[in-house]
Amino acid sequence: MIDQATIDRIMEAARIEDVIGDYITLKKRGANYTACCPFHNEKTPSFSVSPARGIFKCFGCGKAGNAVTFVMSHENLTYWDALKVVGKKYGVDVKERELSPEEQQHNNDRESMMITVAYAQDYFTKILHSHVDGKNIGMTYFAERGFTQATTEKFQLGYCLDSRAAFTNTALRDGYKKEFLVKTGLSVERDSGQLVDRFYGRVIFPIHSISGRVIGFGGRTLKTDKSSPKYVNSPESEIYHKSNTLYGIYFAKKAMMQSDKCFLVEGYTDVISMHQAGITNAVASSGTSLTPDQIRLIKRFTPNVTVLYDGDAAGIKASLRGIDMLLEEGLNVKTLLLPDGEDPDSFARSHSVAEFTDFISRHEEDFISFKTKILLSDSKNDPIKRAEVITDIVRSIAVIPEAIPRSVYIRECSRLMEIGEEVLTGEVAKLRRQKLYSDAHDAPKPQPQPPQPPADGDAAPPEALHTPPIPAFVENVFCREQERELIYLLLRFGSQSCFGVSVSAYIINEIAGEDLSFQNLIYRQIFEEYRALLAASAAVDVRHFINHPDQKICELTIDLLSQKYTLSKIWKQPETPDVEEDRLRVEVPKAINVYKSKIVTQAIMRLQAELEGKSGDELDVLLLRLGELSKVRTKLSEMLARPVF
Ligand code: CTP
Ligand code: MN
Repeated sequence: MIDQATIDRIMEAARIEDVIGDYITLKKRGANYTACCPFHNEKTPSFSVSPARGIFKCFGCGKAGNAVTFVMSHENLTYWDALKVVGKKYGVDVKERELSPEEQQHNNDRESMMITVAYAQDYFTKILHSHVDGKNIGMTYFAERGFTQATTEKFQLGYCLDSRAAFTNTALRDGYKKEFLVKTGLSVERDSGQLVDRFYGRVIFPIHSISGRVIGFGGRTLKTDKSSPKYVNSPESEIYHKSNTLYGIYFAKKAMMQSDKCFLVEGYTDVISMHQAGITNAVASSGTSLTPDQIRLIKRFTPNVTVLYDGDAAGIKASLRGIDMLLEEGLNVKTLLLPDGEDPDSFARSHSVAEFTDFISRHEEDFISFKTKILLSDSKNDPIKRAEVITDIVRSIAVIPEAIPRSVYIRECSRLMEIGEEVLTGEVAKLRRQKLYSDAHDAPKPQPQPPQPPADGDAAPPEALHTPPIPAFVENVFCREQERELIYLLLRFGSQSCFGVSVSAYIINEIAGEDLSFQNLIYRQIFEEYRALLAASAAVDVRHFINHPDQKICELTIDLLSQKYTLSKIWKQPETPDVEEDRLRVEVPKAINVYKSKIVTQAIMRLQAELEGKSGDELDVLLLRLGELSKVRTKLSEMLARPVF
């Protein structure tokens, strides 16, 4: 661990144009520098570096960060290692915080496991290439599968001898500890205390971490009978977590970035054959359905995923639900159904890269129409089945976070299912509302904060400038865009003043005073942190968020500060100087009012739904609340000088 004071010193010393200039050639343009983006393939420069803010941003691929995160991404280092690199450049002595004995032990264990696994990979590979059985059995098998010598070397494939403990005994003799052989799962301890090899008699597929270290293995049997499982894999351990690993990611990440696309397949051999055929942006989920961590891993490199399906896959239907998760994470999902009897492995081996690429471009289709076809195929004439399919598709569409792709899919589904677009839109909206409410209930409540003393020199704004208060019975709802706009104002203009207080104090008072909290967790975290910082000092330096150790906060901040912001056209330029206070006096209350309107409108809709079937006191309470809300809505509309919907 590196202590905060050292981090601050590194951040202060780092001149981003120098740090990035060590890796790529920057051209000066005005106050900024530009270059062709090192994170994606481009011919005209859209990568921009702002020395004033200490940030970089690519307007092509969207990648953004500070000096340290640049080194982190470019060199594939952890945040801490990247800090050290930058610290070294500026002669900042990096003092690591003393680790507690437990932390020390934990790190040592992890490292010992890594070393043991690296040793095993080397052993298995040597056996494959030099041992008579390795050559005759392992290498022959790989050759039959069409893997070239270069491919076996690239993927560091191996062979584990078919004798119970050949590997374990060699490892012990070479001084590797039983503890780590067992913890990594390379050796299995029998009840008798005897150690045996987990992978004996199997060909070995090492599994690499994103930075290329081996963290686990898959071992495939060479037997054709069904007595033993086809694959045996490394167990979960401190160094190998199946759920956040994608097979092939280390070899694919660069191509994923450059082609801005990822092919998702099932197994080890699919990945290897595709890479060998020249399609190097392929990764595998290794037979299980995708996990959120795996999806995030893909998303670090590209938002575009094409899922490859075997031509005869019985499992397509079962896997459809899992794929919804990709949509939910905002990825653009396409599918490719291979011809009957082919899997990615066989198809890649029997076709040239040109044929494969051509097949992809002709047969790739968006996930929604693929799903519609699959589900509809065996229920063509059954109206009830049809209705179920529609519900199912609507559910998939409803999880997509962005409005525009949602509406595109609704149109597509309307066309395919011959059903009105308005009906579908209504259904999608209904599902989203239900989801919002359940999210709102699930969201953890923020910690109560003590009342905030006004910052130095900040007087409260005149009463007339307060935005209308929201009744206490109203629940929070999810309104991403509005929350985002407020966070944007907070970060970008927080220290400027309007109505005699700082923009940040104004926003925080108007919102925090309401017992409302942001539902988007990142926005909420920024808001709460900002509020705490403001309570502790008169002004908040936005660099706190730019240099935040939480990558997501850092990226979001830079994104908000530098994007060509479309919601408010007046702030188009990424580097606009302070805007006049007049503007802020209009825009800041407006953003708060829009946010509140959204909440109030949702609350009204919800109340109206609740009214149905109610009578007596219950009805009266609801009607009173409705009346109260409707007044707030009128006030909000007046302030916004437009009707609130
Ligand atoms: N898998 C597994 N354990 C099994 C079967 C499969 O872990 N018993 C995982 C492996 O990661 C495998 C993937 O699921 O690569 C896909 O399974 P399958 O298509 O059966 O294996 P392939 O790798 O395609 O192997 P082969 O082509 O040699 O049959
Ligand atoms: Mn296969």
